Amino acid sequence: MKRILVINGPNLNLLGERETGIYGKVSLEDINKLLTVAAKTHQVSLEFFQSNHEGEIVDKIGQVKAEGFSGILINPAAYTHTSIAIRDAVAAVVIPTVEVHLSNIHAREEFRHKSLIAPVAQGQISGFGPQSYVLGLQALAGIIK
Ligand code: DQA
Repeated sequence: MKRILVINGPNLNLLGERETGIYGKVSLEDINKLLTVAAKTHQVSLEFFQSNHEGEIVDKIGQVKAEGFSGILINPAAYTHTSIAIRDAVAAVVIPTVEVHLSNIHAREEFRHKSLIAPVAQGQISGFGPQSYVLGLQALAGIIK
């Protein structure tokens, strides 16, 4: 079974209590449960990784091939808009990567409109709340089949 690494960036550990008007009341644990159900449908297995630290995310991406992953589903959170290091890591590993966001980043503050990751990702899904992850997983599973 193909393995997918699910990466969540900074402050996403606070989902459910963090700015609920924007991000909703669903916790990261609940999103991971949704994904686990969807993974069964798509016959892929998942590993979950969350970090508030840019370097830890870069390190984890750098290990994907050695750890046998076929794809990355990532919500880089605020690092979406700032991290050349995460972008370079995604470009370096050449594994299909799908970027997801709970909120529609293009409808928010201007500084959120630009993603440094999107140009090296297969695509981006933004604005569907927890469903963004489920849609992203579906897309990724289709690519790596
Ligand atoms: C986010 C959007 C980012 O702009 C923000 O910094 C986040 C969450 C989202 O999922 O909507 O932390 O990635």
